[in-house]
Amino acid sequence: CIRENEASTEVDLTSLRNVFDVEKLSKKEMGEDALLYLNDGVEDRLTLKANVEAYKKIQIRARRLIDVRNVSTGIELFGESWDSPLILSPVGYQQLFHPHGEIATAKAAAQKKHLMMVSSVANHSISTIADKTQAKLWFQLYPTTDRKITKHLLQQAENSGCKVCVLTIDHPVLGNREVGIPLLRKIMSTRKLKMGNFEGIFPDGIMPEGTSVIDPSMTWDMVGWLKENCGMKIILKGIVTKEDAALAVEYGADGIVVSNHGGRQLESNLGTIECLPEVVDEIDGRMPVMIDGGIRRGTDIFKALALGATAVCIGRPFCWGLGALGQQGVELVLDILMTELKRDMQLAGVTSIQQITKDYVRS
Ligand code: FNR
Repeated sequence: CIRENEASTEVDLTSLRNVFDVEKLSKKEMGEDALLYLNDGVEDRLTLKANVEAYKKIQIRARRLIDVRNVSTGIELFGESWDSPLILSPVGYQQLFHPHGEIATAKAAAQKKHLMMVSSVANHSISTIADKTQAKLWFQLYPTTDRKITKHLLQQAENSGCKVCVLTIDHPVLGNREVGIPLLRKIMSTRKLKMGNFEGIFPDGIMPEGTSVIDPSMTWDMVGWLKENCGMKIILKGIVTKEDAALAVEYGADGIVVSNHGGRQLESNLGTIECLPEVVDEIDGRMPVMIDGGIRRGTDIFKALALGATAVCIGRPFCWGLGALGQQGVELVLDILMTELKRDMQLAGVTSIQQITKDYVRS
């Protein structure tokens, strides 16, 4: 279903009370196949479910009789101040969900002052997104098997003003997406979507046989290689153990995203929020630790911050917004989650993100 307008029908925005209402509308707007692809996990969806369910096992310990009229949700990340701890995770092929794809997402991120991570396999290139929007962008890298291409991607990202490169490390081979991959092939058989970042390299951005964005030979040395070949800070996305957190420090990474790719890679992982404490303990404040996977409510954001996350990221929820209403829908999802977080902070008796410590949760 391809639309040029933001929504096919008049929508009463007040009827969209939470991100799940937005998800329902997205099914109507972008069609069942696109939503199935977006929501898919691997095999029996154990990791996917664990991400969401693990948050429900954690309870909040609220404090009382605190003046909570003024609440600040600001954080600092790499010396920069942000109004919110909520970041948009990298999601490839966003034109599957709305014709304006990443441009709509980036405009929403800029409007609402959230940081956006742009996927290597975005439909619009990082330079186009930077040119057409005011969004603050980080670049997510899938290192291609051909390092010359990787260098080109890094250069594009730096030229577009990116200060941070997010290297995805949970993707040495493609996960067993029994539903999603055939669905993607079906959708792509009728719609030709470009991979903008590769357009200057290959005709139509289509990679030739033998070149891939999946590199099973990548090891820890990649961190040093990236440091030699670009001036961006390097964040590792996909760490789920304290052992790898220690190696991230040893090899000179600048930050971590605790992530299992939203349950789209290895089956039978713990939920990411269950992995967070051991990573945070190991890192012990030496670098920012972010998290994604399964965050659907303000209370989930609160719990992740309490367990030591510097910031939290969402994938599917903002794509539901994109699919439902384009830019407006992404803005709505950000508003919903931030309104929930602010209210949750007031109800728990905190007035700043820095006050949300592990004393505020019981797991
Ligand atoms: C992803 N994710 C992802 N990650 C990445 O590093 N590069 C990418 O291109 C993509 N593409 C992508 C597409 C789709 C459709 C989904 C759902 C996810 C993973 C993403 O960045 C993030 O880790 C998860 O989406 C977080 O989980 P939630 O918030 O979706 O539960």
